[in-house]
Amino acid sequence: MNFHVLTLFPEMILQGMNTSITGRAIAKGLLSIEAVNIRDFAFNKHQKVDDYPYGGGAGMLMQAEPVYLAYRSIAERIGRKPRVVFLTPAGQVFHQDMAKELAKEEDLVFLCGHYEGIDERVLEEIVTDQVSIGDYVLTGGELPAMVMMDSISRMVPGVLNNQESGETESFAGSLLEYPQYSRPEEWHGKKVPEVLLSGHHANIEKWRREQSVFRTAKWRPDLLKKADLTNKEWNAVRKWRKEWKETSDPAEQLKQEGGTRKEPQEE
Ligand code: ADE
Repeated sequence: MNFHVLTLFPEMILQGMNTSITGRAIAKGLLSIEAVNIRDFAFNKHQKVDDYPYGGGAGMLMQAEPVYLAYRSIAERIGRKPRVVFLTPAGQVFHQDMAKELAKEEDLVFLCGHYEGIDERVLEEIVTDQVSIGDYVLTGGELPAMVMMDSISRMVPGVLNNQESGETESFAGSLLEYPQYSRPEEWHGKKVPEVLLSGHHANIEKWRREQSVFRTAKWRPDLLKKADLTNKEWNAVRKWRKEWKETSDPAEQLKQEGGTRKEPQEE
């Protein structure tokens, strides 16, 4: 996977991507990252890339020509028109399946806006996908581009080692992660759940699955629609929901839980 980022802040992209797991994958040659400075394509005296919007309004706009020339420099080098992702709060909201789909591309270009936006005409000409990373507004597209590249990288074969790929599977099944514990066995008076110390693998797997279903039902019930639950698990979800409804008074709920979350009961 070759990432190309059109940006006014190349150092931000390179610093971020050359770190940790993505950094390791770049060193191994599984990924490449290139940050193209749009300012290098502003052929005027002060290398200016922004101007006032026609019709008035607050702020400045990034002009079409430097963005276009920066894009062209990539397209010409790789010899074809790559997919171009424009980061904007107005885009389609990013999700795991999108990461998986984009990971199949050989080259991906990310266009990071700054100021109040980019001249619409260049967007019409080069952008293939408009993507948002959530319903909030950031100062520029660099962080969203890094978020996307990070999660796309995880989907590129070889980027994660065996142990790390295991983590992918749990979200792929649309369930949240189960809780995990390491040494010591007791910390601040809290004990590691007995089953995890038992060495009984089938019971451990059963407990972890139950915890995942419970947490998803409690914190992200919207994900359950896509989760592959057994009839028994659906019954458990219905039972928990009924209990939560009965204790929906927040003060009452806190009293019942003693300030902590209630974990699933043995059937
Ligand atoms: N640019 C500014 N805010 C953004 C967001 N939430 N997602 C993608 N790009 C953005």
